[in-house]
Amino acid sequence: MGVPVTASIDPTSIDPTDLRAPELPPTTLAARAAAVLRDNDTGTLVTASPKLYPHMWSWDAAFIAIGLAHLDVNRALTELDTLLSAQWSDGMIPHIVFTDATSYFPGPDRWGTDSVPQRPPHVRTSGICQPPVHAIALRRIVDIARHVSRDDVELAETFAARTWPALYRWHRWLARHRMSESCGLITIVHGWESGMDNSPRWDAPYAHVQPGPDLPPYVRLDLLGVDDPNERPSDAEYDRYLWLIEQLRRADYDPEVVPKTLDFRVGDVFTTALFAIACDDLVELAHELSLDAPDEVAELRTWAAHAREAVAHSADPDTGLAFDKDLRNGDTTRTTTVAAFSPLLCSALPEHLEHRLLTHLTGPAWAGHPKFHAAVAPSVSPTEPGFDARRYWRGPQWPVLVWLFSFAFQRRGWTGLARNWREQGLRLVADGSFGEYYEPFTGEPLGSTQQSWTAAVTLDWLCGRWWA
Ligand code: SER
Repeated sequence: MGVPVTASIDPTSIDPTDLRAPELPPTTLAARAAAVLRDNDTGTLVTASPKLYPHMWSWDAAFIAIGLAHLDVNRALTELDTLLSAQWSDGMIPHIVFTDATSYFPGPDRWGTDSVPQRPPHVRTSGICQPPVHAIALRRIVDIARHVSRDDVELAETFAARTWPALYRWHRWLARHRMSESCGLITIVHGWESGMDNSPRWDAPYAHVQPGPDLPPYVRLDLLGVDDPNERPSDAEYDRYLWLIEQLRRADYDPEVVPKTLDFRVGDVFTTALFAIACDDLVELAHELSLDAPDEVAELRTWAAHAREAVAHSADPDTGLAFDKDLRNGDTTRTTTVAAFSPLLCSALPEHLEHRLLTHLTGPAWAGHPKFHAAVAPSVSPTEPGFDARRYWRGPQWPVLVWLFSFAFQRRGWTGLARNWREQGLRLVADGSFGEYYEPFTGEPLGSTQQSWTAAVTLDWLCGRWWA
C-alpha cells in the first residue's frame, strides 16, 4: 500500500538531497542521455526539448552536435549541416530553425522573416542570432572523431573543410555588423541573442524598451511547458521581447540598421569571449586541415585579438569581473552574473587578475557556496540582489554553462579544476531527468526536462576523455 494521499509532512524536515532521485551509475546516465537525444531527434535535427522547445536553436544545436558525436559522428555532422543550411545569405546564423511544430511562441509568422531576402527560401527561421559556439563544436567533434575511427576522422575533416567557409562568413557577419565601434564588444539587440534571456544583466538595458500600444496581442505558450510560471520570465519581460521583434520587423532585419536603431543595444562580454575562442578554433582548424585561406585566417586572428581586448577593457581593474556595456547611453552595467567571469573563458586578463577572478568564482559566493548541492557556478550568486533560485537565468545552475567553463579550464591547462567542474557538473545532472536548469540549493531540475543540450554535455563529460 502506498502513502495515503492525505498524509502531510513538515517541509523543513526534508533533506534537500531527498528531492532528487538516487544518483544513477554512469553507464545508466549515459544511456539515458543518449535516449534523450534519440527521442528528440526528428531525423535531421534534434529539438532543443520535446515540449517547451520543439525546434532547433542555434547554440543548443552546437552542444547537441557534440553529444551526438559520441553516438554517431555522421549524425553530429548532419546536425551542424541542418543549422548551416539555414544560414542567411549575409552570413548570420539564425537563432531558431523552425520545424512544423505549432506549440511554440513566437513562431515563424510572428517573426515575419518569410519576406526577408537574406533568409534561405527552403526553411523558416527567426531573425536574430545566438552566441557563436559553432566553431568550438566543430573543433570538438573533429577531436572526438579522432578517438573513434579512421572513417569518422575522414568524415569529420571533410565536413570541416567544406563548412569552414560558412563558419568564417558567420564570424565575418559578427565582426562587420556587431563588433561595436565604441567598445569592441559584440553587440546584441535582444536578450535572446545572449542565450541568457532574462538575466539581471539586461534589466537596465531593458528599461529603455517600452512596448508601444501597437504591440500586436499574443498568447504565451512557454508557460504550458513548465510546472510553475515562476521558473520562466515574467509577462512584462515578454512584452519587451515581443516589442523588439516588432522593431526588428519594421527595420526589415537589415543588419546595418538593426544595431543602430533598436531600443536594446548592448555590448555582451560573454558572447565576445566566446567569439574570441571560436575564432581561435577556426584558425586552428584551418591549419590542421591545411586550408588555403591566408587572408581569412589573418582576419580571424585580428577579430580574436580585438575581442579579447574588448573583454579585457570591460573588466574591473581590481576584481577582473567583466561588465556589459549599454550602447544606448554608454553605461557600464555593473550587474554581476556568471557572465562577469567571461575573461576566464578566453584568457583575456593578466595572470594576477585572472587568479583573483578564479578565486572569486570558486569561492563561497559562487561555485563554492556552502549550501549548494553541486559546487558549480549559478547564473546569479545568492549574494547578489537580483538572485532568484528558481527563475531561469536569475539564479539556477545551467549544466551547459558548467560544461563551457569546465571545457575552457581544460583548454587553459587547468586540468584539476576542469576535472572538478566535470565531477560537480555530473553531480548536478545525476538524477537522469536532464533538466534545463537546476535549483542550486536542492539540485531540483527546473524548466524543461529531457533538455537535449543537458543530455549532450552529460555525454561529453562521461565519454569525452578530455579531462583524463
Ligand atoms: N530561450 C527563448 C525562449 O525561452 C528563445 O530563444 O523561448
